[in-house]
Amino acid sequence: MNLNTNLKPNPDSQFSWTRLLQQAEGLLSVSSHRISNAANLSALLFAEVPDISWVGFYFLQDESLWLGPFQGKPACVELPMGKGVCGASAARRETLCVQDVSAFDGHIVCDVDSQSEVVVPLIKNGEVIGVLDVDSARLNRFSEADAEALTGLAQAYINSIR
Ligand code: SME
Repeated sequence: MNLNTNLKPNPDSQFSWTRLLQQAEGLLSVSSHRISNAANLSALLFAEVPDISWVGFYFLQDESLWLGPFQGKPACVELPMGKGVCGASAARRETLCVQDVSAFDGHIVCDVDSQSEVVVPLIKNGEVIGVLDVDSARLNRFSEADAEALTGLAQAYINSIR
């Protein structure tokens, strides 16, 4: 097994979601463990996606989202289901693309630097198991195309785990 093969920098240094999805699928294919794969996917996204300040997983247990593997500054450990961007995404089962987090009703401030955010619900066998959260310190960082690509990456994660 040689993980580095999948992590070589792009020779033309142009970021591509398509290429990142291919890298992610390679990386996720070596295991079906949900914590290990969440850890590696967080690391890949943090290393490769330009202009993001935090990326990580929250897992649903007892009506709260609990902090899982992530990259970035330490974050809130427990987010109530239905509250904040993460809780809203999980409750609505929808990817949320928030251009200005300060304008989102109930946004939970974990990191004062965070200005915009995408949250993708993780749905396995019809059940919400958590969310993938990606933050940027720049307003309007994420386009709808970025949100769609992150939804695809979250699906690759879901497909990879037991
Ligand atoms: N801002 C999120 C909380 C999680 S952190 O950004 C890591 C929210 O409102 O759900």
